[in-house]
Amino acid sequence: MEIQAKEDMDMQKKWWHDKIVYQIYPKSFFDSNGDGIGDIQGIIQKLDYIKSLGADILWICPMYPSPMADQGYDISDYYNIDPTFGTLDDMDRLISESKKRGMYVIMDLVVNHCSDEHEWFRKACQEPGGKYGKYFYIEDIKDGKLPCNWRGIFGGSVWSELPGHPGKVYLHTFHKKQPDLNWENPKVRQEVYKIINFWLDHGLSGFRVDAIVNIKKKLPFKDYAPDRPDGLCDLTVMKKEVEGIGEFLGEMSDLIFKKRDIFVLGEVSNEREGSLPDYIGENGYFSTMFDFAPNVFGKSEKGWFDYMPVTPDNYRDCCFTSQERAKNIGFFANFIDNHDEPRGINRYLPDHDLSLESKKMLATVYFFLKGIPIIYQGQEIGMENRGVVPLEKIDDFSAIDQYYVSIDAGFSPEEALEIISKYNRDNVRTPMQWNAEPYAGFSSRAPWLEVNPNYPEINVSSELNTPGSVLSYYKKMILLRKNLDYANTFTYGEFIPFHPDIHNLMAYYRSGDKDILIIANYQKDARTIMLSREPKQILLNNYDKFSLSNLELNLLGYQALVLEL
Ligand code: GLC
Ligand code: CA
Repeated sequence: MEIQAKEDMDMQKKWWHDKIVYQIYPKSFFDSNGDGIGDIQGIIQKLDYIKSLGADILWICPMYPSPMADQGYDISDYYNIDPTFGTLDDMDRLISESKKRGMYVIMDLVVNHCSDEHEWFRKACQEPGGKYGKYFYIEDIKDGKLPCNWRGIFGGSVWSELPGHPGKVYLHTFHKKQPDLNWENPKVRQEVYKIINFWLDHGLSGFRVDAIVNIKKKLPFKDYAPDRPDGLCDLTVMKKEVEGIGEFLGEMSDLIFKKRDIFVLGEVSNEREGSLPDYIGENGYFSTMFDFAPNVFGKSEKGWFDYMPVTPDNYRDCCFTSQERAKNIGFFANFIDNHDEPRGINRYLPDHDLSLESKKMLATVYFFLKGIPIIYQGQEIGMENRGVVPLEKIDDFSAIDQYYVSIDAGFSPEEALEIISKYNRDNVRTPMQWNAEPYAGFSSRAPWLEVNPNYPEINVSSELNTPGSVLSYYKKMILLRKNLDYANTFTYGEFIPFHPDIHNLMAYYRSGDKDILIIANYQKDARTIMLSREPKQILLNNYDKFSLSNLELNLLGYQALVLEL
């Protein structure tokens, strides 16, 4: 195949285009003061580690004051730091220490909802008809009927009784301790802009914008056809129908984001057909947004028990479709792990095939796609799911909810535990495994969530100077993406699939100043693949072996190569 077309090389350059994001889940990263919970000083102490890895942008999950009903995604004060994590001064120091090292910090902007313990909501409860009542969606129960039958993302109705006001209810897309803010009210939007500017003035380089597709509601509220025995209907049905979210996003982007040269990563899924340019095009609302395609593949509205496994071909097809969609439009942010999903290696690799090689292979195929790569803490050392744990040890309430959804669907308690163990958000929230000492060196005492018992084998310290480790491989990948000879091609070069029809093969070209082939044998059996051009150089290999004769490339099980052509 002849490779041409380097059209994206002349797109307008932005400072974040060639950057690598490292996501920190602060509660589980590093505990500096021995209370069992990670904190800002802990992050500061590990900045050199992140720097040595080669990441540029730190995305830190919420650390604002919060009752922690949803691990900090329920904010009770947007202008401060929760004492569990430290102080505003600590945060300022974290930002300046990062800058010293040439790194940028972004935080979550969580403004679809706040906490029910936020002052606004307290005042709304005192006076539902007053100024702050209008910050939320508060409705009357009419003839014993709720305003509509939408099911919240964590299960149950989106409506709960307004404290102190039987007969009135408020809307919450997520947990009942996360009342939704009413974006139709211009005062709410002003509050949001004030929050953004406050943090930018503190030196943040941007935001990861949480749950933002939920800010627009179809009004007036109405029922949709129920999709489970609970009589409720999944929220996505409403979201498909509602129009006008672009007005809110456009305003926020024009008034705030575009005025400062920041990096904004949108949590957007199921955007309207054809609207991708509005989100991530040259003049889009956000710098980039997550590519959720592999992530949502096989999920079911019925619940976790009905999720389908993702095969290698599924995974490849999802990534390739997204790459094609974003072509000539903008950048997706590519990831295999985050704080809401099981470990990518557990989801996108067959269970019995987990090995150093397969972990490195999966890393390779996502990391060199066009877009912004994100690494979630622990991914770089090959951390794995926590697996099955007894119900009483589960922290993630969405997993607990899904346990009962599975039971209602007829599964036995053992089966239900097994089902939820696959998607339980605790899987990825277990403490970072720093070394083989007690509590994995994360803390000097028992952490808030149990450490994965595999920490004596999988940890930073044992992998740090070990050539064959997953960690060493991640460092090599990052170095390669940043190597000045290739960086331009990895950043702006075109994505061109290579034999997307071959079963269990994931391969693509990146074509710019250089022509590069990323090729992975996504299966345990060895095989031979015919190349169309002689490689000039092996840039990366997850094995020591390489065998090519007359364009016949022999690939071992889960072998991945990055070849310069
Ligand atoms: C996002 C976050 C998730 C949180 C939810 C509600 O999806 O990633 O952790 O529970 O929003 O804020
Ligand atoms: Ca601590």
